[in-house]
Amino acid sequence: MSFPVIDVDYEQPLAAADGSQSCDTRHAWARVPPEPGPAERDALKARIRRLLRERDAVMVSHYYVHPDLQDLAEETGGLVSDSLEMARFGRDHAARTLVVSGVRFMGETAKILSPEKRILMPDLDATCSLDLGCPEEDFARFCALHPDRTVVVYANTSAAVKARADWLVTSSCALDVVRALTAQGQKILWAPDRHLGDYIRRETGADMVSWSGACIVHDEFKALELELLKQAHPAARVLVHPEAPADVIALADAVGSTSAILSAAQRMDASEFIVATDSGMLHKLRTLNPGKTFIEAPTAGNSATCKSCAHCPWMAMNGLAGLAHVLETGQGEVHVEPALGRRARLPIDRMLAFTAALRGGRPVDHLVAGIGAA
Ligand code: 13P
Ligand code: SF4
Repeated sequence: MSFPVIDVDYEQPLAAADGSQSCDTRHAWARVPPEPGPAERDALKARIRRLLRERDAVMVSHYYVHPDLQDLAEETGGLVSDSLEMARFGRDHAARTLVVSGVRFMGETAKILSPEKRILMPDLDATCSLDLGCPEEDFARFCALHPDRTVVVYANTSAAVKARADWLVTSSCALDVVRALTAQGQKILWAPDRHLGDYIRRETGADMVSWSGACIVHDEFKALELELLKQAHPAARVLVHPEAPADVIALADAVGSTSAILSAAQRMDASEFIVATDSGMLHKLRTLNPGKTFIEAPTAGNSATCKSCAHCPWMAMNGLAGLAHVLETGQGEVHVEPALGRRARLPIDRMLAFTAALRGGRPVDHLVAGIGAA
């Protein structure tokens, strides 16, 4: 059973002066900062390096943000990673300020895990269609309909939705957590991404009811056009993020989180890859695999809506100027109401303990028993 789809209304990209419809995120509706020229870019980077030192701050960037924000994070002792590792790194780092380049839920998760730290984001309006499409009051009603189910929530949600969850997961640990819960005989309530939920259900055989949200980036990948691209590149391997539709996942050689896509590209013995995830990922893929070719999976075709063109418009709101500004002024600080944060922390801590045990080869069964509806 699925909960009714909540339709979030997005503006379409603006038509260019010649009347053509542009597929560039820069022309879309999000407040994407202008690209600085070379001199301004160097000056902004120098200012950020200085401010990071002066403010006892460290950068935590997602793979989808601008390459400048990824490279600068690594160069200054910060991190570029998937959402799970961003959370862990932010929690464990000694710096008093974390500058999170990504989207709102990533900043909130950092604040929930480190309430004593100052969390800054280059643009606090950078959100996520999954978060927008799962309002807390509606989600609470959904949960109330299924009191016998363990509530498993994707990281791409508000602090208020997390506070209602038994478990938090990211795409890198969702299968492992749900498998462990299913082995205990637990039934699952899943939210909010319908494609990731369906993928988890197919892979684990879990008894699941699901919310029906979608990521505007991954929902746009097209199976038919991907098949045509595969025919044109028969040796290419296909890497897909599980927020993509089932017919796209069915064409994948590897399915997984952003970090799983990265390791698959490094591991697989192929020289060409078609990548069905946000195009921000291509920067790291190309840097770490200089001899390999990466091609963007198609989002266009007959049913194209040009909502995202394979680049998250909210991730694109993060820029060097915004980052320098918030470091300088202290604006752009993420706040989470402390009592809400304490409640939302429980499912996040469970996820971090579960994944740490898995990584260390330790048993996890005792970590999933007696929680939620079990
Ligand atoms: P990861 O958890 O794989 O980094 O994904 C986050 C995200 O927003 C994907 O669209
Ligand atoms: Fe959300 Fe999709 Fe953007 Fe990720 S890529 S932040 S899931 S809208």
